[in-house]
Amino acid sequence: MTQLVLTETLGRVGLIRINRPEAMNALNNDVVDGIAAAIDAFEADENIGCIVLTGNEKAFAAGADIGFMKDFDYMHAYKTDFITRNWERLKTTRKPVIAAVAGFALGGGCEMAMMCDLIFAADSAKFGQPEIRLGTLPGAGGTQRLPRAVGKAKAMDLCLTARMMDAAEAEKAGLVARVIPAEQLMEETLKAAQTIAGYSLPVVMMIKESVNRAFESSLNEGLLFERRVFHAAFTVEDQKEGMAAFVEKRKPVFKHR
Ligand code: HXC
Repeated sequence: MTQLVLTETLGRVGLIRINRPEAMNALNNDVVDGIAAAIDAFEADENIGCIVLTGNEKAFAAGADIGFMKDFDYMHAYKTDFITRNWERLKTTRKPVIAAVAGFALGGGCEMAMMCDLIFAADSAKFGQPEIRLGTLPGAGGTQRLPRAVGKAKAMDLCLTARMMDAAEAEKAGLVARVIPAEQLMEETLKAAQTIAGYSLPVVMMIKESVNRAFESSLNEGLLFERRVFHAAFTVEDQKEGMAAFVEKRKPVFKHR
């Protein structure tokens, strides 16, 4: 049987690749369980400082597997906690996750990319929330994360018309951090991931937590959270090393503690 999710370790970067090319990487339970298990493993590994989630050149993921869920009833969805049970593992990981998106990121695929901390898009990327065409709505955060990323106007446009947004529009709208020529997507993404993974892991986690707090709090509460975490960073051994190295005009050697 083909492995639906492939993993690889490249230095301090953990790479997760969705591998269901014959179905445009449609996300069934086995795929999402595989992603969750890969995250569990990378989270537990002290030698991993950043995670990259990707698909193939045609599709990051064209959504939840429509055939898989078409006969669900409410009680099944509720009792199995459909989506929450395994999709949200991406949301809870404390290490940064970069989505490297080429081709289609539609429906649950777009939602999965948005669960990551940042999105790097190939110039071939296409984002959309076409669930309305199936007589349903986004169920993994599309109506909530998309307006936070691109504003109400474009979020309503995408969710209500089902049209796709290309990489250039997605970058202009603030959904993606960078647009990269398709043939360089993995090289550039892995380079950025290695850069992040080279910094002090506890500080990387503090930054991720602090930026995410901006979406969950008032400005003053968020500022207070940041200030307290900044104070706490004076206890981090790598902070002493980073500042000493600057003063001594040498490269810091971070020990991730
Ligand atoms: C199951 C899918 C699929 C999906 C593609 N395939 N998307 N199977 N679920 N979401 C399968 C096709 O059935 C086909 O299988 C094969 O992948 C290739 O797809 P084609 O349609 O032949 O390719 P193409 O003509 O290039 O069109 C690509 C596409 C189109 C534009 C991405 O496949 C498409 O519109 N897919 C559905 C997109 C969508 O509606 N996503 C939202 C899903 S709902 P065969 O066997 O025929 O070769 C959702 C809800 C999220 O995500 C809620 C939270 C989980």
